[in-house]
Amino acid sequence: MAKKRIGIMTGGGDCPGLNPVIRAVTRTAIREFGWEVLGIEDAFNGLLDLEYRSPHGNVWLTEAHVEGILSRGGTILGTSNRSDPFKYVKTVEGKKVETDVFDRILENWQRVGLDALISVGGDGSMAIAQQAIGRGLTNIVGVPKTIDNDLGATDVTFGFDTAVNVAVESIDRLRDTAESHDRVMLVEVMGRDAGFIALHAGLAGGADAILLPEIPYRLEPVAAKIAERKANGRPFSIIVVAEGAKPKGGDVSTLGDREAGAMRRLFGAAARVAEGLGALIELELRATVLGHVQRGGSPTTFDRILGTRFGEQAVRLVARGEFGKMVALRGSEVVAVDIAEATREPKRVRPDDSLVMTARSLGVVFGDEA
Ligand code: F6P
Repeated sequence: MAKKRIGIMTGGGDCPGLNPVIRAVTRTAIREFGWEVLGIEDAFNGLLDLEYRSPHGNVWLTEAHVEGILSRGGTILGTSNRSDPFKYVKTVEGKKVETDVFDRILENWQRVGLDALISVGGDGSMAIAQQAIGRGLTNIVGVPKTIDNDLGATDVTFGFDTAVNVAVESIDRLRDTAESHDRVMLVEVMGRDAGFIALHAGLAGGADAILLPEIPYRLEPVAAKIAERKANGRPFSIIVVAEGAKPKGGDVSTLGDREAGAMRRLFGAAARVAEGLGALIELELRATVLGHVQRGGSPTTFDRILGTRFGEQAVRLVARGEFGKMVALRGSEVVAVDIAEATREPKRVRPDDSLVMTARSLGVVFGDEA
């Protein structure tokens, strides 16, 4: 097989498991196929301007570059969620405007002599990949990542397991204070419009109430749960609130206005619940926002293995010329699905999800109770 030059980039928010993917891609491409692997810095920024230098820098990766990175969070290539070449943000006369700069990507692709690109990212990156394919950059293979676990075409994404573990450990810690001080502790977790982190962390952390984006809540059932626990000699409670949780008939809680080229920032869901509950209960309340703590740190064993499998299989897809595909986990198998399928419909917690049902059987409240 002719020697190939492939590029790998990581896009969107960082996520534990990205470095295992980079390592697996580099080692498989070099060892199995004898190819060259360009590590592209900061997603499409590195292809937009070949001289662009963040601290990372475009680099022809060797096995030495990926030595020891399996256990490291983040991404050695750097990432960006502001590098969409179809909506690139420029400042024109003091105003931020979104412009299409994709032709420059194509020029630089030719200049470097790349044969294929492995794009590691979430729904946003897969949508960009799909657009790029439509504009002639066809040789792309996708690798799904996100702590939110909201990509439809794969059973699970790496990063999710690590994020849930961080959240559970935090809930365990907060429980100590809740119990010692007779307090209601609210924990806001990430996930955007999907409640998977909240549901899994809430169940594993023994939460008394879990508020999800998919199940709009009322505060009365939550207050009733807290009162029931108090009456049973447990004057403390743990409430897990997804950052995208919203009251019945209301909207998500956000921070500031949406900036050009960026998504609106979800923030304040737990504080809003705490404020509302304050009027309904007598116990003290405290809200903790876990935020980006959930995105960093060493990936769990599960995420290291999934990232490694995805990286290796992505290289094999390139070798077989199966472009426009994304690796995905189905059951215990890594399969290839169309990138278009991955972006078609986001995954959400179904209100009748078996985990929701299990939690309800155990007395966990979701805020939609009569
Ligand atoms: O998609 C991953 C995620 O961590 C979401 O859970 C969260 O809403 C968002 O990214 C935060 O993005 P940023 O790093 O831009 O604040």
